[in-house]
Amino acid sequence: MQATVRASPNIALIKYWGKRDEKYNLPAVSSISITLDEIWTETKINFSPNYKRDILTINNVQQDDTRRVSDCIDSICGEHRNFACVSSKCNFPISAGLASSSSAFSALVIAINQAVNKGYELQDLANEAGKASGSAARSMLGGFVELENKKNKIQINQLLQSEDWPLRVVIAITDSRKKAVSSSEGMKLSSKTSPFYNSWVKNQSEDIDEARKAILSQDFLRLSEISEHNCMKMHSVMWTSRPSIVYWNSATIECMHAIRELQKKGEFVFFTIDAGPQIKAVCLPESESKVVNILKEIRGVSSVLQSGLGQEPQIK
Ligand code: PMV
Repeated sequence: MQATVRASPNIALIKYWGKRDEKYNLPAVSSISITLDEIWTETKINFSPNYKRDILTINNVQQDDTRRVSDCIDSICGEHRNFACVSSKCNFPISAGLASSSSAFSALVIAINQAVNKGYELQDLANEAGKASGSAARSMLGGFVELENKKNKIQINQLLQSEDWPLRVVIAITDSRKKAVSSSEGMKLSSKTSPFYNSWVKNQSEDIDEARKAILSQDFLRLSEISEHNCMKMHSVMWTSRPSIVYWNSATIECMHAIRELQKKGEFVFFTIDAGPQIKAVCLPESESKVVNILKEIRGVSSVLQSGLGQEPQIK
């Protein structure tokens, strides 16, 4: 009745922002991501008849609110179950736009399935992970992952393995505090108030097709162009929500300009930004050291993380 699983977060190149179903947490749009390698969450779960309630610790700190984790366990095991102790450790900042919920919930659903021997298939577990955090479903696979919207559910497909196209990711941390507006709250606000929301949803399939082609043909410049465009569109929807949601700070913008300068000098790099102020620079290995050296010198960048592309979650 116990299991330990390590999973890595993923970074969306074609983003998800908005839900078509609140109850099952189904996304309004399909998305494409890359699963990381060196940064991870390791989750241990242990069910026992002796526990009087679910217990959750994150980085050794006991949490008062176990609701999202308890709901996820109920959804897989049913409500007539033993309580569980879940302890989760992350080697990167959480709730700061580094997709910590994607590694946390992909690790959790696999750990639950393993601990109670439920025998769920991968796609079912991806739907369970997605119920807790939309982006978590994509961390159930390694490399380049497409999350497709199907009727009443989602489906995940691996487009390329990490070894097929070993891109590098450099993450500039500009503020590691918890974000002021959670992704769920932000999505709700955007879908209700942004005048750009409907066209964002309507045009997503074109971006998905373009990015899929770029990935399958390993065309870096084509992937750069569509990824930056899709990222800016998502942030335009955020910015035009009422009240406006602005996750960037001045260092985020400085980093964007620095990456544009590197592109002009012929370096193979592009940026993407999620619901937080960190910049994720995706690059070819030959451009990585230049990207790191430039980003770490920018005022407001407190640290720089580097990662390759990784595998699906690993049972320990
Ligand atoms: O999975 P959530 O609910 O934390 O939402 C993630 C939203 C973005 O990171 C901004 C985009 C994405 O597709 O990952």
